Formats: sequence, structure tokens, C-alpha cells
Amino acid sequence: MKFADAEKLLAGCGQEHVLEYWKKLSAKEREALLGQIAAIDPKSVKLCRASLGKGVTAAVDTSKGKAPKVAVLKGAALKKAIAAGEKEISSGRVAALLVAGGQGSRLGYEGPKGCYSIGPVTGAPLFYFHARKILAKSISYGASIPFYVMTSEANNDATVKCFEQNDYFGLNPDDVFFFTQGMWPALSSEGRIILDSPGHIFMSPDGHGGLLAALKRSGALEDMKKRGIKSVFFFQVDNPLVEIADPAFIGHHVLEKSEYSLKLCAKRDPFEKVGMPMLVGDSYRMVEYTEMTEEQCLRKKNGKLYYLYGSPAIHVFDRAFLAREAAKAMPLHLAFKKIPFVENGKTVKPDSPNGYKFEKFIFDILPNAKRTAFLAFDQKDEFSPVKNATGNDSPETCRADMRAKWVRMLEEAGVKVPASLPIEIDPVYASDAQELLKTGIMLEADV
Ligand code: UD1
Repeated sequence: MKFADAEKLLAGCGQEHVLEYWKKLSAKEREALLGQIAAIDPKSVKLCRASLGKGVTAAVDTSKGKAPKVAVLKGAALKKAIAAGEKEISSGRVAALLVAGGQGSRLGYEGPKGCYSIGPVTGAPLFYFHARKILAKSISYGASIPFYVMTSEANNDATVKCFEQNDYFGLNPDDVFFFTQGMWPALSSEGRIILDSPGHIFMSPDGHGGLLAALKRSGALEDMKKRGIKSVFFFQVDNPLVEIADPAFIGHHVLEKSEYSLKLCAKRDPFEKVGMPMLVGDSYRMVEYTEMTEEQCLRKKNGKLYYLYGSPAIHVFDRAFLAREAAKAMPLHLAFKKIPFVENGKTVKPDSPNGYKFEKFIFDILPNAKRTAFLAFDQKDEFSPVKNATGNDSPETCRADMRAKWVRMLEEAGVKVPASLPIEIDPVYASDAQELLKTGIMLEADV
């Protein structure tokens, strides 16, 4: 991009001040700033400006929201869903989609969250457990399950390196597709782009909802289409318990002819920090824990929580639905934050929030789905995220939950596990008690 083009682009969205320090910049700084400006989408900046002062634009009046009808599959219905899901997977129509743009900073780890060591015995990273589960499924069903991994500018290189250094955890590199989410400039309360140094615009990731634009921009959506993918299994990087491409869930999604299906689990307590889907008017939407009132969290029906189910962010999308939604603008969520800014040519770190970051959330496309499906599952089997350094949802609780799941598997296979014994099972070795038995390995000798 040339200087004149940058001037024109910025003038088109009222941001001429971005070039205020141009004359004082070195050739290198000028080049870098032009690169940043070239990546700005003036339409998005205008959207962000328009949303200022409106709070979270995606928020709706949920006071009359109704709890969703959630399927609990058992017996013949469960068998039917599993059979449908197995057919979908073995026909090569299923892909795995991971949002992994986040860093491990909340855990005190400076790197991609997916590289965070979680294996209780091996210290293997979160990515290992995800990749090995995909590999295990593709071996079991004799079909490839392409793995689409969304990274961010901050962690893309380190993520790719982690996969390369670990030989893609056994996956075929041709079936792993990395793509990077977008970045957006932050805006001051007056709607001005914030420079954090004279030649640099402060940018932040556009949220996991940036997934749709990034899938399209990177060619990943096209790649899915070429491969004949129909069902896309979505999950978050922080939950190593997730059962990726679970046949019952995929099958339920297919049988319900759903465009957007969600797995839900009973909340551990009324204030658990999870999103909750609700029927508002005639469409479903996800209401974040931050948007629920105390009264709503506690409202009870028949002695049970009215909004019993929370979302662990485990979804199945119809690929064509994702493609349809990728062509539309998404609602914006605003976060008022402390953002470094330039004053008289010097960077200042503010003591209180001074600017807005903008994010898109993938679940905001829920109301647009023509058909949806909700499936209940047992939290202890599939959801134990690593969010905090200590306490709830920490590496410690997650490792304990991983171990407890493996112990249940081993005991179902007839193996007694001593309480103090550290254990870890590679998902490719076995993902349930039946597979443990099938391997024919001398389990008792192993433990
Ligand atoms: C999220 C969900 C919440 C759900 C909970 C389950 C949101 C706003 N809320 O909460 O409804 O119940 O998980 O654990 O998402 N990510 C990116 N790029 C971004 C931002 C996030 O790839 O720009 C990825 C992260 O790497 C992570 C996931 O999205 O895999 C979730 O992000 P996080 O910020 O941890 O969400 P939570 O607030 O924990």
C-alpha cells in the first residue's frame, strides 16, 4: 500500500489521525504502519464506531427467555444416533474445527494455550489430546477427519511449530489446516483508532466469531466443500476431555436435520461461568453468564434450576450453514479496557479503561439456524476446561478429571487402579473400556 492509498482509506472511515506522526517515522516504521492500515477493513471500523455507546450490541432482552428442550439419548434412540453418526464419519463427511487463538496467559504460560502441558504423566500439551482423539476416530472409522485449527497472529507460528516438532501427533499433515483469525483496531470513546506508539496501531483479536471470516478468507471453507464435508465438529482448545466427533452427537445432529447443534450439561452450580442457550421469542440465542441476572441464575422450576443446562462450547455445524453465515456481518461485543496510547509522541499506559476492544462470538449465529438440536451429556465425562491458574477449572482439577475418566474406563475393563498410581492413556491406544479390552494388552501388568 502507498501513502496516498492509506490516506484515502483512513479518510473513508474518519481516521486520518493515524498518520499524525508519519513525518517522524523511520522507513521501517512507515512500511509496518502501511501494512497495518492495508489490513484494516473500513466497513468494520464504521460498524465498530456505530456500536459505541450501545453497550453489547448482541445483548437482547432475555427476561422472558425459556430454557431449551434438551434431548437425553438412551436405549434404542441412542443406538440409532450412534449408527447415523458412524455412517457420517466413515463416509468422510465429518471435520474437526478447533478455536485456538487464545494464549495461556491466565495460566501464567506465555505461549499458545494449546501448547500448555496437561498430560498427567507425559506432560503432553492440550493439542496432543485433541489430535490423538481425531487420529483415533479416523483409524476406527477408516476415514480421514480433516482438522481445521484457528490460530491468532500472536500464536500462529508457535502453534505450527508445536505440531511440526511433534510430527503432527501422528496425523497426516495434509489433513491439518491452520488458519489465522483477524485483528481489529481498538477505538477510543470518541471512535478514534488508538495508536500505542507513533507508528503502530493497537490491534486485538476479533474473537472466536472471527472464525467465519477467517474460514472464508483462508480457503478453509472451500477446502471443506471440496472434501465433501457436511458436519463440522467445533470445540475449544482448553477442554482435553471433549469427545471429538462423538458419533452419538453427530448422528443426533444429522437425524434432526439440524444446522447448529449444541451439547449441553447440567451446571455444577447456578453461577458457573458458562453460556446458556435460551428460547427468546421464536429463536434460540446464547446468553453469556455475564448477561444473566442473579434472579435468572437462581430461578427454579420443580425444585430444579430453570436454566439447568450450560454450554461447554461443543457444537456441530452444518458446513453449508457456516458458508451462509460467513457472508454476513456478525453482532459485536464491546469490552472497555486499559489500552496504551500515544500522547505528545510518547506511549502512556492508562490506569483506568480508556478504549474499546471489539469481539465476535461464534454462538451469535444460533438465532439464524433454521433447525437446531440440543443434546445432554454428563459433564464429568466430557467437560473439564483449563481456565484458571488455581482453584476451579485449573490444571489441577482438569488433570484430576482426566485421571478419574481413565480410572472409570480401566475399572469397566476389569482393572483395579491403586489410588496413588499416576495414569495416562493415549486416545489412539484406547478411548473406552471396549477398546481397552480389544487391545489384548495385559492391563494388570501395566498398572
Ligand atoms: C467460553 C464461552 C462460554 C462457554 C465456555 C465453556 C465465550 C464468550 N464464552 O467462555 O459461553 O460456556 O467458554 O468453556 O466464548 N478464542 C479464540 N480467539 C479469540 C478468543 C477466543 O480462538 O479471539 C478461543 C480460545 O482459544 C478458546 C475459546 O475461544 O479456545 C474460548 O475462549 P475463552 O476466552 O477462554 O472463553 P470463556 O470466557 O472461557
